[in-house]
Amino acid sequence: MTPAPADVLISPSILSADFAALGAAVRDVDAAGADMIHVDVMDGHYVPNITIGPAVVAALRPHSDKPFDVHLMIAPVDPYIEAFADAGADILSIHPDASPHTHRSLQSIRSKGLKPGIVLNPGTPASVLEPLIELTDMILVMSVNPGFGGQSFIESQLRKIERIRAMIDETGRDIILEVDGGVNPDTAPRCIAAGATALVAGSAVFKGAGSLAENIRALRPASPARSAA
Ligand code: DX5
Ligand code: ZN
Repeated sequence: MTPAPADVLISPSILSADFAALGAAVRDVDAAGADMIHVDVMDGHYVPNITIGPAVVAALRPHSDKPFDVHLMIAPVDPYIEAFADAGADILSIHPDASPHTHRSLQSIRSKGLKPGIVLNPGTPASVLEPLIELTDMILVMSVNPGFGGQSFIESQLRKIERIRAMIDETGRDIILEVDGGVNPDTAPRCIAAGATALVAGSAVFKGAGSLAENIRALRPASPARSAA
């Protein structure tokens, strides 16, 4: 079932925060109303950028009780699953083309007590999910090509979100459908209308026009009371 719009989870990406003050950034977005903390892990191999590793995730863990939504853009993934579990990740999402044995990688993530997620690049079809969806607690649709913040939303991904919404509903399971890349107050409502239940936002939260709380609120749908007013 698609949750009510008020249930949409906002997961600010700390990729757009000040890297010299990441602990404060995590505390600040937590206090500003974030539902999860999105951590972009890049290896300079699977994607053309290098960001942070398990030691930084572990260092950030005491700064928030919110779930850490850790997005692995690394290949291979298997040698690092335990390190991210130990570091305090709650959701660990992997790109299927980054692991030669995606099914086993998802099982391995679950066996460590984490929620496994699958990430689809803009060029990856929804059909990849068919043999994997039962193993996942999150499906993350990339609405930009992974590697950098601040890119423009790729419109064609809305159709894929709709298709995946239907696939999730068919399972009858409560799988989070998250969208990542170019999410802002214009694109957020369109993602939600297509069936998304979680939104990642880096630039829109950390570099938006208002305070962190205002920027997060601007991504949420208007409450029924407000829209009726
Ligand atoms: C891109 C990352 C995103 C990125 C989104 O590879 O996965 O999480 O931080 O940044 P914005 O919201 O600026 O598009
Ligand atoms: Zn991400």
